[in-house]
Amino acid sequence: MRIGILTGGGDCPGLNAVIRGIVIRANKENYDVFGFTDGWRGVLENKGENLTKERVEDIHREGGTILGTSRTNPFKEKEGLERIKETLKERKIDVLVAIGGDDTLGVANKLYREGIKTIGIPKTIDNDLSSTDYTFGFDTAINIAVEAIDRLHTTAKSHHRVLVVEIMGRHAGWITLEAGIGGGAHIILIPEVPFNLEEVCQILLERKKKGKNYSIVAVAEGAKAAKGSKFLTREVTKEEKTDAFGNIILGGIAKVLEKEISKRTGIETRSVILGHLQRGGRPSAFDRFLATRFGIKAVEMLKEGKIGQMASLRGTEITSVPLEEAVGKTKQVPVSLYQETAEILQGE
Ligand code: F6P
Repeated sequence: MRIGILTGGGDCPGLNAVIRGIVIRANKENYDVFGFTDGWRGVLENKGENLTKERVEDIHREGGTILGTSRTNPFKEKEGLERIKETLKERKIDVLVAIGGDDTLGVANKLYREGIKTIGIPKTIDNDLSSTDYTFGFDTAINIAVEAIDRLHTTAKSHHRVLVVEIMGRHAGWITLEAGIGGGAHIILIPEVPFNLEEVCQILLERKKKGKNYSIVAVAEGAKAAKGSKFLTREVTKEEKTDAFGNIILGGIAKVLEKEISKRTGIETRSVILGHLQRGGRPSAFDRFLATRFGIKAVEMLKEGKIGQMASLRGTEITSVPLEEAVGKTKQVPVSLYQETAEILQGE
């Protein structure tokens, strides 16, 4: 048995732990593992390396992915499907394990429908994949964001400023909500709950009136104002073009809010975009454990014939769900969860 693996989409801490989990588990069955370079691009171009136990030794504690990644969409490439089929035939790959978010797993699902044997492993710092309680990478990202917010408190307090911190998560506010609560942000703005800038400024002014001379605003990169507002009713984008999967490239809302808040409240305001810091560096213990379990599970799934499925965390159990069910639906923060947490703590 020969397993092909690839890591696609945005990197995240824990990818190397999955790779190691797969190789060690596969080794016990005498299965070979071949790692494709740079996501789907490596399969299209037939590039990669044999992954031995020696090659993956100790990699679980390192961030990024030893295989490299890309946002290549093979269905947007000339003769993409045929080239993938050719590579798999040439390399004698029996099953392809795709480690990625919705875009990468969406491709794995399409390939499965085309008769190619695929298995999916969910990853993303955004935690926005449905059909799994958590994706690895998320825990590390929230810890980085909490640490950043903690640090922003001391400088904001010393200068009596408002500090706006922009946090990743595209169309889901999980990182912003959990890190915002953990870090004690006074206002939390997420895509699921469109905001009213007047109200935001009011809360900041009220805090000042009460003698609380600084504030932290945690804003998700994809947050926007409520309909009817004259301002920010569209997400702030870094550039107009989209990536190969049609995703808009977000970024810059903190800068816009910095200017507006300062203009409307007269309070000195600064902004910071955490950006890719949230994706870099070593995985947390939680992510190392989850990623390793997912890697091991992929080989178990293969043994049990659970093809066309994705490994998934449900409660404390690792199980599997059909890829068809898992892809194409963004798991957003329920508005009720925001109300029970961010709204209760707002301004406090
Ligand atoms: O999907 C993960 C993510 O980090 C999003 O939170 C963010 O919007 C996007 O990737 C950034 O992508 P890139 O690394 O291509 O700029």
